Amino acid sequence: MKRSSVKELLHSDKFLQEVHVKGWVRTFRSNRFIALNDGSTINNIQCVVDFENTNEALLKRINTGAAVAIKGTLVESQGKGQTVEVQVTDLEILGDSNPEEYPIQPKKHSFEFLRENAHLRVRTNTFSAIMRVRSALSFAVHQYFQQNGFYYVNTPIITGSDAEGAGEMFKVTNFDTNKAPLNEEGEVDYTQDFFGKQTNLTVSGQLEAETYAMALGKVYTFGPTFRAENSNTTRHLAEFWMIEPEVAFNDLDANMDLSEDFIKYVLGYVLENCKDDLAFLDNRLAQEEKQKPQAQRSDMGLLERLNFVVENNFKRVSYTEAIDILRNSKPNKKKKFQFPVNEWGVDLQSEHERYLVEKHFKCPVILFDYPANIKAFYMRLNEDGKTVRAMDVLFPGIGEMVGGSQREERLDVLKEKMAELDIPEEELWWYLDTRKFGTAVHSGFGLGFERLVLFTTGMGNIRDVIPFPRTPQNAEF
Ligand code: 4AD
Ligand code: MG
Repeated sequence: MKRSSVKELLHSDKFLQEVHVKGWVRTFRSNRFIALNDGSTINNIQCVVDFENTNEALLKRINTGAAVAIKGTLVESQGKGQTVEVQVTDLEILGDSNPEEYPIQPKKHSFEFLRENAHLRVRTNTFSAIMRVRSALSFAVHQYFQQNGFYYVNTPIITGSDAEGAGEMFKVTNFDTNKAPLNEEGEVDYTQDFFGKQTNLTVSGQLEAETYAMALGKVYTFGPTFRAENSNTTRHLAEFWMIEPEVAFNDLDANMDLSEDFIKYVLGYVLENCKDDLAFLDNRLAQEEKQKPQAQRSDMGLLERLNFVVENNFKRVSYTEAIDILRNSKPNKKKKFQFPVNEWGVDLQSEHERYLVEKHFKCPVILFDYPANIKAFYMRLNEDGKTVRAMDVLFPGIGEMVGGSQREERLDVLKEKMAELDIPEEELWWYLDTRKFGTAVHSGFGLGFERLVLFTTGMGNIRDVIPFPRTPQNAEF
C-alpha cells in the first residue's frame, strides 16, 4: 500500500479506505489518541488506537518523539478541531523515544533551551513552521528572478578579495597553524599556502556578480556569506545567506524599484502558499505580545504586517532628509538616543533606523544618497562630490534588510577612490577590467535572507530562523 503524508490524509475524503502513514508521535492521550506529525504540515492527524485489543507493552512504547508506522481506516472525525482521523488496525514502532531522556516534551520550552537542542527543535510546531516558511521563501526567491529574466550565478565562497572593505573575514588556509612558514620579514608566507595567496570566506558575492551582469545582463546570487564581526545581536549571524541581484543598465531608481517589487513578491508568495504555518506563527506572536506591557505591544499582528508591506509603497527618503527628521525628533531633543544626531555625515545606528521606520514613517523605508565616507568603495559618486548612490531598505522590527547601490562605472573615479582607501589595484585588476571594457551604468543590492525570514515569521532572534546558527563562541552541531 502506498504511504500517504499527513497533509494528504487531512485533505482526503476517501473515507472507509485503508491508509498507510508514518511519522512521529507528538502526544498520546488516554491510551487511545495519537497526534501524529510527519513534517508535511503543521497539523497532526489523530490516530485512534483500539487499546483493548493492543498489548500493553506496545502501548507503553507510544511515546512523544517515537517514530511509528500506522495502517488503518480513514474516517470522519467525531472530535472537534479535525475533520478526519485514522482508526488504527496495525501499529509498528519504528524507533523508540525514551520519555525520561527525550528533551522535547509536549510543553512550552524556552527558545534558549531549544537553541541548545537545535538538532531536535525542528520537531516543534514553531520551528517546523519557520523552516517550512524558510523553504517556501527560498523557492519564491528563485521563482521571482527566473520569471523576470535573471540568471542564477554561483559566485565563489573562497575569495582573495574583501568586497565590503570592512576586513571582518574568516581566513581560509591549509597551513598547520602552529607551523606556518614565515617569510624574510617574519610574517606568515602565504605564497606557500594552498592558493599561493591569502584567502578568506566571502562576505559578499557582489564583485564577481558584477562581472557576470556585464555579460548576462541580469543575474542574482543566493548563497552563504560569512562575517567575523563580533556582533552579539538578535540580527547578526557569522554565517548567513545573502541574495544579491545585479543588473546592467539599472540606475539607483530602478534598483529601488527592483528591491521593493522583489520583497513584495516573495512575501505575497508565502501569504498565498504557507497559510497554515503563518496562521500558527501569527497566533504565536499574538500570545507573545500579550505578555508584554501595553506600551511595548506592536499595533499589528503578523499577517497584518505582511499584508501591509505587500499593499503599501515603501517610503523613499534621502539620507539628508533623514538626518533632518532625526535631528528634530523627540528622542534626539530629549537625549534619548544613545548616539545623538547632531551633524550631517554621521553613520545611522539601528536606534535611528528603527525610529524612522517604526515611529516616524510607520512603513518600510528606502534611504538613499548616503555620505560617501560611510559607504563602500564601489558606490557611485554623486555630482555633489560628497554623497554616493547608496540605498538601504529598512524594515520595522528588523532595521536594515537590504543594502545596495548604483556602482561606480567610471574607471578614473573608481581608481581614485581605491587609492584613497589603500585598496591595491593589483588585487582587483579583474574588477577594474569591467570598467575598462564596455563599462555601463549598473546596480544591485544584497538582501540578508535570515532577516527576511525573521520578518516573515515574526520571530525575535535571527538564531531561530536558520537551522544551525553560527555566532561568536558558538558553532555547535
Ligand atoms: O549591507 P551589506 O553589507 O551589503 C553588501 O554586502 C553588498 N555587497 C550587497 C550588494 O550590494 N550586493 O549586506 C547586505 C545585507 C544587509 O542589508 C543585511 O540584511 C544582511 O546582508 N547582513 C546580515 N545578515 C545577518 N547577519 C549579518 N552579520 C549580516 N550582515 C549583513
Ligand atoms: Mg549594509
